[in-house]
Parts: sequence; C-alpha cells; structure tokens
Amino acid sequence: MKLIQDFCDADIWPDELPPSRQAILAHIGGMDGLLCLLTDQIDGGIMDAAGPELKVISSFSVGIDNVDVAAASARGIPVGNTPGVLTDATADMAFALLLAAGRRIVEGAQGVRMGRWKTWGPAFMLGADLAGATLGIVGFGRIGRAVARRAGGFGMRIIFSDPSQVIPEPGVNATQVDLDTLLREADFISLHTPLTDETRGLINADTLGRMKPTAVLVNTSRGPVVDQQALYEALFSKRIFAAALDVTVPEPLPVDHPLLTLENCLIVPHIASASWRTRERMSLMAAENLIAGLKGERLPNCVNPEVYKK
Ligand code: DGY
Repeated sequence: MKLIQDFCDADIWPDELPPSRQAILAHIGGMDGLLCLLTDQIDGGIMDAAGPELKVISSFSVGIDNVDVAAASARGIPVGNTPGVLTDATADMAFALLLAAGRRIVEGAQGVRMGRWKTWGPAFMLGADLAGATLGIVGFGRIGRAVARRAGGFGMRIIFSDPSQVIPEPGVNATQVDLDTLLREADFISLHTPLTDETRGLINADTLGRMKPTAVLVNTSRGPVVDQQALYEALFSKRIFAAALDVTVPEPLPVDHPLLTLENCLIVPHIASASWRTRERMSLMAAENLIAGLKGERLPNCVNPEVYKK
C-alpha cells in the first residue's frame, strides 16, 4: 500500500469482502492500473470500462484464473502475478493436509473435545502410513516439486504427472507417469495444476473411481479442479479414504455444504499461502508489477509477455 500510495493516487476498496462486478465497474473508469485479488473476476468488459488508459493488471496471486488473460493480451495489457514466493508455504500446507487427513488429526482433536476419547485401543483411529507409501503429484511445477522435496524426507515413493516432460531436480527421486498410472498407484494424491479448461473437473467420478480405496486426496490448487459432488459420493461411500481441501467451490464454502458433514473430509479456508513472510513478499511483488506497468516498464513477473512483442 505504501509503495503504491507513494507513487500514485489510489482508489482502494475498503471492505473485507470483495467488490461486486458492479462496484468494480463503478470505480474502474479512467484508471491507469488495477491491482486485484484472486476473489476479483476481471474480464474484458471491466478492461473496456477502464478505458484506453489501462496499462497494467496486477493480481495478488500466482494463479491468474480470475483474470481473462486472453482479453488483456488482445488489448495489449500486461498481467502480473506473484510466482515463486508462495511455493514453500503452499507445499508446507499441502504436506500438513496430507498428514492431517492421512492420520485423522482434526477428526481426532474434535473427538477429544466431544468426549469420544474413551481409552487407547489397538484399532482406535487408524490412519495411513507415509513412509513407504506412494505420493502422486498432479502437476510438477514449482509447488509440485517442492512437495516432492518434502516427501523424500518422509521416505515416500514419488510419482508425478504433468503435460510436459519434466526432469526432476538432482536429489529428488521422482518418476513421471501418466495420470492413469498415478491414480491407480498412489496412496496419497496432491493436486498442483493451474485451473484451465483441461484441468477443470479433472478429479471426477471416473478418476476417483480409479484411485485406491485407501487413497488420500489433497487439493491446494483451485476448487474447480475437483468435482465436489463426485468427491462427496466417493468419501461418503468410502470409495477413497479421505480428502483435504484448501480450495473449494464456492469460496467460502457454505456451512451447510454436504462435504462438511463428512469426518473423512478436512477443509481449510484457502490459506496455503497465508504465512507472514509469504504474504509480505506477495504484496511487494504485486505492488512492483503495478508500478512497473504504470511507468510503462516491463512487469518483473508477467504472465502474457507476448504483449511486449506488439
Ligand atoms: C495464489 O496465489 O494463487 C494462491 O491461491 C493464494 O493462496
């Protein structure tokens, strides 16, 4: 905020809840730059309402599915994001969820509060071992690779799928496989794909049906990658063992959503990057992208560099 306000006049949305599309339209006219959160849907109509002065869109996120990047490119507007700085925080959260769901930590803690802890028992609250288990990572970009580094320390076998051929970094023992092999062989599956037309609904009744009955699914990518109705049915019928989600459809998930009735489903409120250092770095990157665009300079992190070729 300080960097931005020292550089230019800023119209800052004051509420905790995001502005409606109508509110964005009411404020955007004549703006030179826009800094948005992942909760703001920025489409061509909003860009046009800003007018020809709009020089930059800076999203305070690494995922940019909230911005119509093709529409921005068509209008010659560079779009900035915040890659890299949230890799470790997100990988940490994916691992925390993997452990929590596999070892039933939240379910156990809630049981203690509810007086369900009667005694120690040989078969009480059994969960999944990590050591020796196979972790399947769907999407082997920065965050997927950071999850693999953590999994090595837990003695897991690592397989991954990715649309591109990826060579794992030295010291990471991970094997690329096709998605079908990953679904059939993995004990834990962690999703790290961007949300695209190809990944929307990737985890559905069919792909859930190919997982092991003991599988644990973790999603820290984007909610729409998982078909939640199919997931509910798979968890309810114990077709898979457990799931842990940082992202849902919609966000926030209504408190009466069926997934929240399941003990084998752990849901947290899109907090994978929510660590002090990470959010500070993200905010600086978002401000730097905005200011560079306002100055007419190349954005330090631009998702549509083709705009500079025109
Ligand atoms: C991002 O930046 O895309 C993350 O989802 C924020 O947690």
